[in-house]
Amino acid sequence: MTIATKLMSAAIALAAIGGTAMAQDTPIRIGVMLPYSGTFALLGQNITEAMELAMAERNNGGCNVEYIQLDSEADPSRGPENARRLIDRDLVDILVGPVHSGVAMGMVQVVRETGTPLIIPNAGVRQATAELCAPNIFRTSFSNWQPAYPSGTVAYDRGARTAVTLSWDYGAGHQATEAFAESFEAAGGEVVEQLFIPFPDTNFQPLLTQIAGIQPDAVFVFFAGGGAVQFVNDYDDAGLKDTIPLYGSGFLTEGVLDAQGDAAEGLLTTLHYADGLDNPVDAHFREAFEAATGRESDVYAMQGYDTGQLIAQALEAVSCNVGDLDALSEAMASATIESPRGTFNMSSSHNPVQDIYLREARDGQNVVIEIAAPALEDPAPGCSM
Ligand code: PHB
Repeated sequence: MTIATKLMSAAIALAAIGGTAMAQDTPIRIGVMLPYSGTFALLGQNITEAMELAMAERNNGGCNVEYIQLDSEADPSRGPENARRLIDRDLVDILVGPVHSGVAMGMVQVVRETGTPLIIPNAGVRQATAELCAPNIFRTSFSNWQPAYPSGTVAYDRGARTAVTLSWDYGAGHQATEAFAESFEAAGGEVVEQLFIPFPDTNFQPLLTQIAGIQPDAVFVFFAGGGAVQFVNDYDDAGLKDTIPLYGSGFLTEGVLDAQGDAAEGLLTTLHYADGLDNPVDAHFREAFEAATGRESDVYAMQGYDTGQLIAQALEAVSCNVGDLDALSEAMASATIESPRGTFNMSSSHNPVQDIYLREARDGQNVVIEIAAPALEDPAPGCSM
């Protein structure tokens, strides 16, 4: 039995005890388009399993549901084709995905035409909830601007006046490093060089040599998953960690601290999640996720969990009638999510309004230090719907 099947059986048993009948016979089809291979594979797995956990805990909103999974391979060139396959061939009612901003652009383009409800459980591409916003597009994660923007102020407040930014050369990297530069320069600092490396390359040595030559006061990076493990280790091995403080959006140290070991110790990052948040929802979620999967939770699992919560709430609100797209959209837009990150609502552009935490990597944990930016809302330039 898979974890999802076990959880479903438990949920069905609970529903039977409560005398709740499933409201419809034909299953609601949820298409899940996430990376199950490559540098983001574990991210996709955590999102999927936590989403199914949250749904099962809520008896799937009282509905009969079925998941159809597709490996996005974090490959932007296949985004539109894969989304169309789920919608046209597999006839999904709701689409969930992806992790990668480039893949998200393709999915957004397709669902803007088909009207299929799309819930983005990770990809931060700003356009999805800005100029390309739509009544059927929601995000339970963050915009690339959100977790990176507060880092510029953090670095400046700790004495940095010059900085170099470095990231993978695609949408998420550009948007995250621009957001850092925006607040760093507004505070009076200067980004003296912006460096990029193709996604998902990890040949960081030439770039580290360049940074050592420039000697900025700080470095800000966007990397995640397997690439983040490699970068943090290489930065330390190059002898830069003790001389040039490294900052990042918190993906740099999420779910990878064990693999980074001492190389990550003391790193300051900003993110909409942290270890040591003292709230009962988080305590329950962490325990339930670990019991179901045998793995520790992280930001990706948390976002998956909230995706499940959002879907379950919306299904319940429409009594499983996913054909009523207006009602479904309205239920999602007005949802209050009791999230492990802290309770949040959707902005008018359908992106979470949320606290961004400053965290320090200490002994395998991203320990919360303070709220770097309370109730931060992406300004969502160009959104009208
Ligand atoms: C993205 O491509 O938007 C992305 C990927 C991985 C992350 C965060 C953002 O951890």
